[in-house]
Amino acid sequence: MDFNYSEEQAMLQKMVSNIAKNEFFERAKEIDKSHRFPKENVEIMGVAGLLGVTIDEKYGGGGMDYICYSIVVEELSKICATTGTIMSAHLSLCAKPIQDWGSEELKEKYLPDLATGKTLGAFALSEPGNGSDAAAMRTDAKEDGDYYILNGSKAWITNGAEADVYLVLAQTDRAAKHKGVTAFIVEKGWAGFSFGKPEDKLGIRASSTTQLHFDNCKVSKANILGKVGDGFKVAMTTLDGGRIGMASQALGILRAAFEDSIQYSNVREAFGTKINEFQAIQFKLANMGVDIDAARGLIYMAATAHDEGKPYSKLAAQAKLFASEAAMRHTVEAIQIHGGYGYTTEYNVERYMRDAKITEIYEGTSEIQRIVIAKSLMKEYL
Ligand code: CAA
Repeated sequence: MDFNYSEEQAMLQKMVSNIAKNEFFERAKEIDKSHRFPKENVEIMGVAGLLGVTIDEKYGGGGMDYICYSIVVEELSKICATTGTIMSAHLSLCAKPIQDWGSEELKEKYLPDLATGKTLGAFALSEPGNGSDAAAMRTDAKEDGDYYILNGSKAWITNGAEADVYLVLAQTDRAAKHKGVTAFIVEKGWAGFSFGKPEDKLGIRASSTTQLHFDNCKVSKANILGKVGDGFKVAMTTLDGGRIGMASQALGILRAAFEDSIQYSNVREAFGTKINEFQAIQFKLANMGVDIDAARGLIYMAATAHDEGKPYSKLAAQAKLFASEAAMRHTVEAIQIHGGYGYTTEYNVERYMRDAKITEIYEGTSEIQRIVIAKSLMKEYL
């Protein structure tokens, strides 16, 4: 279904789908096995303009809307969820908040290289001791003349050691709790900024997930996004946008599982007939098909609200919650359809299941999405 894509959206979808199939498909299995960060994929995405698809043309981006962002993440993730994650964290969690919250000076300094893939971005909110309770961060930033001095550690950072530009959240006033959080832009190579070892993950194995360590790292006040104390809002609004991407990633993985299952069940035979003749299989395929359309509907509702400047926190949470849980459920079913073959790495469905799991965890767990949705509904109805 094409959802009446505009000419631009339809062309983008075709282009990304072709790039993903022709350039990333073969490599997806290899990097999953080796955990090797696919620099060549980043380069290809940079040349094709995918890394800055929603960034203003003024800063070298594509100037496209959030349906386009969703299309890119979905098509990449259908073929290689690791590559979808790299692109999404870079664009929606680093470049976008610089565009939305940065001074003109910061935008001019960072966006042209981020938009074209000359540099890669990352977002650092979670810490070893806090994930869901974002305001409980321990990393602090102490004022020192024209600078802040950062100390602390961040955890599970996508693009970890491979990025060049980092959006880092730190406490500038611990007593003020979430109102004392500030967002800084920090560059790789600055004194006092180092990396932990890459995490050995269940899925999206090649996306380079590491800890970040700050040991008296000096950051200029000019590198603050928004004002001192705006950081929690920067983080929350950034995650609202990112959650549309994670929902799109889950949708891409779900579509891959569905399409593999449709093909396999049409050739595999049991009891003298193709297994897609059995209702047990047909029901699984039907459930997948319905959830693909439902997920896409929720994602495009959220993306449209974003593009129209309307509130979209609840819509993004709904899209992420539904799409990620559907992807998890159906990738397990896809393995069941493939039987013993599905449990081996000869087929891709076991990778889809491992990749799907993280979509229920990062950028806010399913439990956090339910909290966001419930709070919003209570505000709406009470
Ligand atoms: N947009 C704007 N403002 C928002 C907001 C939003 N979406 N959500 C909350 N706020 C504001 C509130 O209005 C409130 O503002 P005031 O003080 O001015 O009234 C303030 O933020 C505090 O709100 P809450 O009291 O609701 O905050 P909380 O501490 O209870 O937390 C939460 C709310 C939704 C649970 C939040 O902590 C949250 O989203 N947690 C999950 C964090 C998360 O997703 N982490 C993933 C990290 S990224 C990642 O996965 C790594 C990677 O590399 C991919």
